[in-house]
Amino acid sequence: MTQPERTSVSDRIDYTALPDDFVWGVATSAYQIEGAVSEDGRGPSIWDTFSHTPGKIDNAENGDLACDHYHRWREDIDLMRRLGVGAYRFSLAWPRIVPDGDGHVNAKGLAFYDRLVDGLLDAGISPSATLYHWDLPQALQDRGGWPVRETAEHLAAYAQVVAEKLGDRVHHWATLNEPLCSAWIGHLEGRMAPGLTDLTAAVRASYHLLLGHGLAAQAIRAAAPDAEVGIVNNLSTVEPATGSEADAAAARRMDGHTNRWWLDPVHGRGFPTDMRELYAVELPERAGDPQIIAQPLDWLGLNYYFPAVVTAEPSGPPPHARQVRRLHVPRTGMDWEIDADGIETLLLRLTHEYAPRKIYVTENGSAYPDIVRPEGTVADPERTRYLHDHVAACARAARKGAPLAGYFAWSLMDNFEWAYGYDKRFGLFHVDYATQRRTIKDSGRHYAELIRGHPRRSSPHAA
Ligand code: IFM
Repeated sequence: MTQPERTSVSDRIDYTALPDDFVWGVATSAYQIEGAVSEDGRGPSIWDTFSHTPGKIDNAENGDLACDHYHRWREDIDLMRRLGVGAYRFSLAWPRIVPDGDGHVNAKGLAFYDRLVDGLLDAGISPSATLYHWDLPQALQDRGGWPVRETAEHLAAYAQVVAEKLGDRVHHWATLNEPLCSAWIGHLEGRMAPGLTDLTAAVRASYHLLLGHGLAAQAIRAAAPDAEVGIVNNLSTVEPATGSEADAAAARRMDGHTNRWWLDPVHGRGFPTDMRELYAVELPERAGDPQIIAQPLDWLGLNYYFPAVVTAEPSGPPPHARQVRRLHVPRTGMDWEIDADGIETLLLRLTHEYAPRKIYVTENGSAYPDIVRPEGTVADPERTRYLHDHVAACARAARKGAPLAGYFAWSLMDNFEWAYGYDKRFGLFHVDYATQRRTIKDSGRHYAELIRGHPRRSSPHAA
């Protein structure tokens, strides 16, 4: 599908409000790219289990090999150099470092990230580490997983291990990536690991994820006092599909489920009362927990992909609302609506409602079915347009006062897109999974141009 030619991709972005040290980055996560799932003492994660369960993943695919980044990380740092990025957001695989989730620390697993961090720094690229991007050690799942409190405590112990090892060189830390997906999609909708459809488990998981965030933030800061610690949420703008009161109420519930449930507690406001009533599940709260969850944040991470236009669905699970599929609206290959203005709206909402010190767009990107042409190029005008328009919207939000400190494109390269397997390609580099060959896409070249276009930022390496 071709986007209407509203503007050409050469339309200029006004960077005036972006700070001098604005961070241009790319993002990935461990299970989606590393492969080497049985190597050097790594233990199994819930995603190994889930992806090997028949019927869970399109084409019965899994992350066993993925992009083989565990062996090709040097080549992948070269890809980043070609783009000219200043930072790389990656996640640490908990089961590689603490294979049983607690107890024994696997020195070989930790050594992988030690090499990666040194390699990044040698290339002039700042590492930005995420502790938890969904790959819970299976051993912890077997002991109850996120619905039990101990999992939060184990996250903090693991955070201490990695911060002690890497904290002298890694200054930018995220505790959790998109806890919404872990809790709601993994425990309520069943479309992600561990694949449950249990509201009580989901609400308890959400609570312990945020408790784990707070405990892990404390542990990182204790081990690495210079650390800048944040949390990464995937948020959406939410609008009612119609002017009816039922849809307006559905939109409020969806906003609570998607946005406020994750933002309010970490900002010291507690879990939203309307949503607590809606879920009607007793939270496993203990005295002192709200303060732990509301650790001061150095930054807030926004992952933005699409807006939510919703209608009431009384018979569905909470929030008793579902997204509608509007006609005649541009969409990505994920069938997600494209709305670049949404990222501006969210950045300004975060700014006005939560007053974060800094915001990073920690993920933003689009999937399309790319092909490498015989001459070795990948034309991806839709992704290029999506990228350009979203960066432009970020720059607009900055001009209107959002304390935007950086933008990380999702993703450096095509990778394992969870339940969708390998068909959905989000990369700025194409990956041929048969040969592991990486090929820059036109969107990757365009991102390098956008980075070069930031007047105060230059990189000698850019493609
Ligand atoms: O691939 C995912 C990533 O793991 C988390 N955020 C959304 C991306 C695209 O779906």
